[in-house]
Amino acid sequence: MSRKKMHLAAASATPYGASPYAWLEPGVDPHDYDNIHVLVRAAQAAERGMFDFLFLGDFLAQTQRSEAHAPNQTLEPTIVATAIALATERIGLVTTVSATFQEPYNIARVLKSLDVVSGGRMGWNAVTTSSPQAAANFGRAIEDRDTRYARADEVVQIVQALWGSWEEDAWIGDQQSRRITDLSKISPVNLRGTYVSSRGPLEIPPSKQGQPVMAHAGASPHSLAFAGRYADVLISEVFTIEEARHQRSAVRHAAESAGRSPDDVKFFVGVMPTIASTHAEALARRGKLIEPDIEQQVRHLGQLLGLPLGTIDLDAPLRADQLAVARANPGDPRSPRALEVAKEGWTVRQVLHHAVIDYHPSPIGPPEVIADHLQEWFEADAADGFWVIPGVIPEGMESFVDGVIPILQQRGLFRTEYEGETLRENLGIDHQYGLHRRTRTP
Ligand SMILES: Cc1cc2nc3c(=O)[nH]c(=O)nc-3n(C[C@H](O)[C@H](O)[C@H](O)COP(=O)(O)O)c2cc1C
Repeated sequence: MSRKKMHLAAASATPYGASPYAWLEPGVDPHDYDNIHVLVRAAQAAERGMFDFLFLGDFLAQTQRSEAHAPNQTLEPTIVATAIALATERIGLVTTVSATFQEPYNIARVLKSLDVVSGGRMGWNAVTTSSPQAAANFGRAIEDRDTRYARADEVVQIVQALWGSWEEDAWIGDQQSRRITDLSKISPVNLRGTYVSSRGPLEIPPSKQGQPVMAHAGASPHSLAFAGRYADVLISEVFTIEEARHQRSAVRHAAESAGRSPDDVKFFVGVMPTIASTHAEALARRGKLIEPDIEQQVRHLGQLLGLPLGTIDLDAPLRADQLAVARANPGDPRSPRALEVAKEGWTVRQVLHHAVIDYHPSPIGPPEVIADHLQEWFEADAADGFWVIPGVIPEGMESFVDGVIPILQQRGLFRTEYEGETLRENLGIDHQYGLHRRTRTP
């Protein structure tokens, strides 16, 4: 009997990897700051592992926090996606473009062009931007949530209408009759909203999958409702199975309220694995990426455990009297895990090396440990898929593909070949061209 399969995405950040300290690793060339070829190699590794897609985030402001800390991002993601699209054949590319600071005509044009160029492998991660530093780069201030999401609604609807403004059968290409297209099938959209408007049409034909897949990344109630209305994929940031199940059911419910099937939204959770042949080796590797932030992290650990840990001896375990009063902070889902690791008797430094402060679960150890983590979450209905965030690339991507993917395949949890050629086919998402019928005005 064939089992339900998980989906996998890989985060594509800088040419060093997702850790801001990856550039300090011995196997990494510090001059790769803007080297697109490293991103292409990591993408090719992910494609060898039959990942559904790469997830390219975007931050519209400075992200470097200190001279040792590399920026979260170095190159513009739609340009990165173009380069990767031309060097790969099957892997999808989900690219973030702000629905707060970009105009719908520009978004529609860039993403549909990329969808055509990539052979139907694009997705749009439509986010509302909430960073004041990003707003300052557009000479604007951040609006309240209601306004940002109301604009985003208009932007998505205009973008999708523009994508559909060249009808699927408008192409003729007949030299004899001198008709390149049927102009009656390429029509303006004439959409005017409160925040954005566009006339259209867009002179771009359908891609192999029609138009890009819709994704969204976020967690606020506004965000989940927005994902329920439009997203085929929701990219989340959750730390526990309970939190994931809660968010997944919230977005499935939001999809139903918007007149869709709950299964129309695929819920992706993050995971930051560190893979090595032994737990000790993986812990040392992970620890190196955490060490530059260790002083800050000790204070944070204190908050998670309800203990004042300002001037602690990093290289000793917590004392019995400290452990006796330590309590998992109910306001932070990372706390129970932090307390569990602290009680195992590790030194404070080693507790932090277990990545207990990271934003995503960080399984550490041989490939089986990572595969067990994914299987546990998947079988608990906490996720439809995972976005894997390698701390260091291309090494982190390659070790996942060579070590973890074969185990998932042996367990029947992951594909052994791509289902189709387009992102829509591989994710199992219904055909959509232009606006969804629910959002079309009669
Ligand atoms: C996992 C995850 C990834 C995200 N990636 C980005 C990103 O790359 N760029 C971006 O502008 N916003 C990104 N966001 C969205 C913002 O963090 C935030 O949700 C957005 O600014 C809207 O905030 P609000 O819904 O709380 O008002 C991401 C959110 C999550 C949960």
